[in-house]
Amino acid sequence: MTDRYAVIGHPISHSKSPQIHAAFAQATGQDLSYTAIEAPLDGFAATVQAFRHEGGRGANVTLPFKMQACELATHPSEAARLAGAANALKFEGERVYAENFDGIGLVNDIQRNLGHALQGKRVLLLGAGGATRGALLPIAQQGPAVLAVVNRTADKAHALGRDFAAHAMLQTGGYDDLEGETFDVVINATSAGLAGEALPLPAGLFASGALAYDMVYGKGLPPFLRQAQAAGVTALADGVGMLVEQAAEAFLWWRGVRPATREVIARLSVPLV
Ligand code: ATR
Repeated sequence: MTDRYAVIGHPISHSKSPQIHAAFAQATGQDLSYTAIEAPLDGFAATVQAFRHEGGRGANVTLPFKMQACELATHPSEAARLAGAANALKFEGERVYAENFDGIGLVNDIQRNLGHALQGKRVLLLGAGGATRGALLPIAQQGPAVLAVVNRTADKAHALGRDFAAHAMLQTGGYDDLEGETFDVVINATSAGLAGEALPLPAGLFASGALAYDMVYGKGLPPFLRQAQAAGVTALADGVGMLVEQAAEAFLWWRGVRPATREVIARLSVPLV
């Protein structure tokens, strides 16, 4: 029988996940279906329950339900618990396992696809919301020399530093604290660009050969990458690789088979112009 999977969010029509998992299933010969389900804003748990009763084996979860996905799990992973959010669920009998693959997806994209090792490097995350929470642990596990988080509201970055204290030594602060600092990898995890807003980045922030990475995807050259380019950065990436790599981790977790990602990333990529 065909195994059923889905991505659950609100809205969901924009999701590329059905396309990605269909490509993975075809390439690996796995017999599964993968659909997009829009849950009512006040009906996430009921939607998950209904999908399980219909025989669903697992689901991806996207905005705005990632925190609820972690809460309803009976067995959340450490990454999901620390992030306070999950983007993948697996159903086994009464058990609901939860994982957060956003961070490992980001790390795999940066290291394997883009060829920028994180070990020993100075890494900066912009923003202290859910996207940063999800990314921190896998980045810290690569052993960067410095892992810094700055946020418009500096106190939120400091709070993140306390939450992760047992796992990573974070440098935290506001954008003013970036004056005089230089980083090898700078990752935009804010939603500023979605509102068309630039970030207050000081001159000299990017080291020679630095990578500028924006978690948004499919938007051409977002404001943060435009800023980086104007500062002379040539290694620019949006989040399409992160999206496909987190999907590959979920597919491996559900099916025990790791799909190749390069071709799918190439197919979904939008030129950065
Ligand atoms: P997500 O789950 O996508 O991370 P979020 O939790 O709402 O979304 O977080 C959005 C992040 O973008 C926050 O770090 C936010 O900064 P504040 O905590 O100070 O609100 C950041 N952000 C949004 N608009 C911004 C802007 N114009 N300039 C700088 N940071 C911005």
